Amino acid sequence: MKVLVTGTPGTGKTTNARKIAYALKLPYYNVTTIINTHPSVIEKMEKGVRVISPKLKTVLKRVLPDDFVIDTHLIEYVPDYDVLVILRCEPKELKKRLKERSYSEEKIKENLEVEILDYFTQKAETKKVVEIDTSKDSSEDNTKKIVKMIKGKKWNKGAVTWHQKKYVEMIK
Ligand SMILES: Nc1ncnc2c1ncn2[C@@H]1O[C@H](COP(=O)(O)OP(=O)(O)O)[C@@H](O)[C@H]1O
Ligand SMILES: [Mg+2]
Repeated sequence: MKVLVTGTPGTGKTTNARKIAYALKLPYYNVTTIINTHPSVIEKMEKGVRVISPKLKTVLKRVLPDDFVIDTHLIEYVPDYDVLVILRCEPKELKKRLKERSYSEEKIKENLEVEILDYFTQKAETKKVVEIDTSKDSSEDNTKKIVKMIKGKKWNKGAVTWHQKKYVEMIK
Protein backbone atom coordinates (compact mmCIF):
# COMPACT_ATOMS: atom_id res chain seq x y z
CA MET A 1 0.00 0.00 0.00
CA LYS A 2 1.13 3.53 -0.83
CA VAL A 3 0.11 6.13 1.73
CA LEU A 4 0.63 9.86 1.20
CA VAL A 5 0.37 12.04 4.30
CA THR A 6 -0.17 15.69 3.45
CA GLY A 7 -1.36 18.97 4.92
CA THR A 8 -0.24 22.53 5.61
CA PRO A 9 3.20 22.81 7.28
CA GLY A 10 2.73 22.44 11.04
CA THR A 11 -0.33 20.18 10.87
CA GLY A 12 1.77 17.22 12.06
CA LYS A 13 2.69 15.33 8.89
CA THR A 14 6.13 14.17 9.97
CA THR A 15 5.06 13.32 13.54
CA ASN A 16 2.06 11.30 12.38
CA ALA A 17 3.48 9.77 9.19
CA ARG A 18 6.34 8.12 11.10
CA LYS A 19 3.86 6.58 13.52
CA ILE A 20 1.47 5.51 10.74
CA ALA A 21 4.38 3.81 8.93
CA TYR A 22 5.39 2.00 12.11
CA ALA A 23 1.81 0.84 12.76
CA LEU A 24 1.30 -0.36 9.18
CA LYS A 25 4.82 -1.90 9.06
CA LEU A 26 5.69 0.17 6.00
CA PRO A 27 8.87 2.11 5.27
CA TYR A 28 8.68 5.85 5.93
CA TYR A 29 9.90 8.49 3.47
CA ASN A 30 10.18 12.23 4.00
CA VAL A 31 10.28 14.40 0.87
CA THR A 32 12.37 17.10 2.58
CA THR A 33 15.07 14.48 3.29
CA ILE A 34 14.89 13.23 -0.32
CA ILE A 35 15.27 16.82 -1.60
CA ASN A 36 18.28 17.33 0.70
CA THR A 37 19.97 14.22 -0.67
CA HIS A 38 19.10 15.10 -4.31
CA PRO A 39 19.97 18.82 -4.48
CA SER A 40 19.59 18.78 -8.30
CA VAL A 41 15.81 18.96 -7.81
CA ILE A 42 16.21 22.46 -6.36
CA GLU A 43 15.61 24.72 -9.36
CA LYS A 44 16.45 28.02 -7.65
CA MET A 45 16.04 30.01 -4.45
CA GLU A 46 13.34 32.65 -4.22
CA LYS A 47 13.21 34.86 -1.11
CA GLY A 48 15.08 32.14 0.78
CA VAL A 49 12.57 29.49 -0.29
CA ARG A 50 13.60 26.53 -2.42
CA VAL A 51 11.78 26.27 -5.74
CA ILE A 52 11.44 22.58 -6.58
CA SER A 53 11.77 21.35 -10.15
CA PRO A 54 9.42 18.79 -11.78
CA LYS A 55 12.47 16.49 -11.72
CA LEU A 56 11.45 15.63 -8.15
CA LYS A 57 8.72 13.38 -9.56
CA THR A 58 11.28 11.36 -11.52
CA VAL A 59 13.49 11.09 -8.44
CA LEU A 60 10.57 9.90 -6.32
CA LYS A 61 9.61 7.32 -8.98
CA ARG A 62 13.12 5.95 -8.76
CA VAL A 63 13.49 6.07 -4.99
CA LEU A 64 10.09 4.85 -3.74
CA PRO A 65 9.41 1.11 -3.31
CA ASP A 66 6.04 -0.59 -3.96
CA ASP A 67 4.71 0.08 -0.47
CA PHE A 68 5.45 3.11 1.66
CA VAL A 69 4.26 6.01 3.79
CA ILE A 70 5.45 9.38 2.49
CA ASP A 71 5.03 12.81 4.03
CA THR A 72 4.94 16.03 2.00
CA HIS A 73 2.89 19.09 1.11
CA LEU A 74 4.23 18.79 -2.46
CA ILE A 75 1.53 16.30 -3.48
CA GLU A 76 1.78 16.98 -7.20
CA TYR A 77 5.26 15.41 -7.22
CA VAL A 78 4.26 12.09 -5.69
CA PRO A 79 3.95 9.75 -8.69
CA ASP A 80 1.37 7.35 -7.27
CA TYR A 81 -0.51 6.61 -4.06
CA ASP A 82 -3.50 4.56 -2.87
CA VAL A 83 -4.56 6.49 0.23
CA LEU A 84 -4.31 10.19 0.98
CA VAL A 85 -4.19 11.29 4.62
CA ILE A 86 -4.93 15.01 4.97
CA LEU A 87 -3.95 16.45 8.34
CA ARG A 88 -5.76 19.58 9.44
CA CYS A 89 -5.11 22.01 12.30
CA GLU A 90 -7.32 24.62 13.91
CA PRO A 91 -5.96 27.93 12.52
CA LYS A 92 -5.18 29.56 15.90
CA GLU A 93 -3.27 26.48 17.02
CA LEU A 94 -1.54 26.32 13.61
CA LYS A 95 -0.47 29.95 13.96
CA LYS A 96 1.04 29.09 17.34
CA ARG A 97 2.90 26.06 15.93
CA LEU A 98 4.32 28.08 13.01
CA LYS A 99 5.37 30.93 15.34
CA GLU A 100 7.24 28.37 17.43
CA ARG A 101 9.06 27.41 14.23
CA SER A 102 10.03 31.07 13.74
CA TYR A 103 8.19 31.39 10.43
CA SER A 104 7.91 34.98 9.15
CA GLU A 105 4.56 36.80 9.43
CA GLU A 106 4.20 36.50 5.64
CA LYS A 107 4.84 32.78 5.61
CA ILE A 108 2.45 32.25 8.54
CA LYS A 109 -0.32 34.13 6.68
CA GLU A 110 0.31 32.15 3.49
CA ASN A 111 0.05 28.87 5.38
CA LEU A 112 -3.06 29.97 7.30
CA GLU A 113 -4.65 30.76 3.93
CA VAL A 114 -3.83 27.30 2.66
CA GLU A 115 -5.41 25.75 5.78
CA ILE A 116 -8.51 27.97 5.97
CA LEU A 117 -9.27 27.59 2.24
CA ASP A 118 -9.13 23.73 2.45
CA TYR A 119 -6.39 23.72 -0.19
CA PHE A 120 -5.44 20.03 0.08
CA THR A 121 -9.03 18.79 0.26
CA GLN A 122 -9.86 20.79 -2.87
CA LYS A 123 -6.76 19.49 -4.63
CA ALA A 124 -7.29 15.82 -3.73
CA GLU A 125 -8.03 13.82 -6.85
CA THR A 126 -8.97 10.67 -4.98
CA LYS A 127 -11.94 9.75 -2.80
CA LYS A 128 -9.75 7.53 -0.64
CA VAL A 129 -9.08 10.30 1.82
CA VAL A 130 -8.72 10.20 5.60
CA GLU A 131 -9.02 13.75 6.93
CA ILE A 132 -8.15 14.34 10.58
CA ASP A 133 -7.94 17.38 12.85
CA THR A 134 -4.63 17.19 14.76
CA SER A 135 -5.23 20.24 16.97
CA LYS A 136 -6.79 18.53 20.01
CA ASP A 137 -5.71 14.93 20.54
CA SER A 138 -2.24 13.47 20.91
CA SER A 139 -0.45 12.27 17.80
CA GLU A 140 -0.65 8.72 19.24
CA ASP A 141 -4.46 8.95 19.36
CA ASN A 142 -4.62 10.54 15.92
CA THR A 143 -2.40 7.84 14.44
CA LYS A 144 -4.61 5.12 15.95
CA LYS A 145 -7.67 6.75 14.41
CA ILE A 146 -6.00 7.14 11.01
CA VAL A 147 -4.73 3.55 10.90
CA LYS A 148 -8.17 2.24 11.89
CA MET A 149 -9.81 4.25 9.11
CA ILE A 150 -7.27 3.12 6.51
CA LYS A 151 -7.71 -0.54 7.50
CA GLY A 152 -11.52 -0.19 7.54
CA LYS A 153 -11.58 1.85 4.30
CA LYS A 154 -13.55 4.59 6.07
CA TRP A 155 -13.06 7.61 3.82
CA ASN A 156 -14.15 11.04 5.04
CA LYS A 157 -12.91 13.62 2.55
CA GLY A 158 -14.15 17.09 3.52
CA ALA A 159 -14.83 16.17 7.16
CA VAL A 160 -12.83 19.10 8.54
CA THR A 161 -13.31 22.74 7.59
CA TRP A 162 -12.61 26.17 9.07
CA HIS A 163 -15.12 28.11 7.01
CA GLN A 164 -16.15 30.41 9.85
CA LYS A 165 -16.06 34.18 10.03
CA LYS A 166 -13.51 34.25 12.86
CA TYR A 167 -11.03 32.26 10.79
CA VAL A 168 -11.59 34.04 7.48
CA GLU A 169 -10.90 37.29 9.40
CA MET A 170 -7.42 35.96 10.20
CA ILE A 171 -6.36 36.01 6.54
CA LYS A 172 -7.86 39.34 5.49
N1 LIG B 1 -1.39 15.78 17.58
C1 LIG B 1 -0.58 16.77 17.91
N2 LIG B 1 -0.84 17.49 19.01
C2 LIG B 1 -0.05 18.52 19.34
N3 LIG B 1 1.02 18.92 18.66
C3 LIG B 1 1.30 18.24 17.57
C4 LIG B 1 0.53 17.14 17.11
N4 LIG B 1 1.08 16.67 15.99
C5 LIG B 1 2.15 17.46 15.76
N5 LIG B 1 2.28 18.38 16.71
C6 LIG B 1 3.30 19.41 16.81
O1 LIG B 1 3.14 20.29 15.75
C7 LIG B 1 4.40 20.67 15.22
C8 LIG B 1 4.46 20.33 13.76
O2 LIG B 1 4.50 18.93 13.59
P1 LIG B 1 5.22 18.27 12.34
O3 LIG B 1 4.99 16.81 12.44
O4 LIG B 1 6.63 18.73 12.23
O5 LIG B 1 4.36 18.90 11.17
P2 LIG B 1 4.63 18.98 9.59
O6 LIG B 1 5.52 17.83 9.24
O7 LIG B 1 3.27 18.87 9.00
O8 LIG B 1 5.22 20.32 9.33
C9 LIG B 1 5.44 19.95 16.05
O9 LIG B 1 5.91 20.87 17.01
C10 LIG B 1 4.69 18.82 16.69
O10 LIG B 1 5.23 18.47 17.94
MG1 LIG C 1 7.42 17.80 8.29
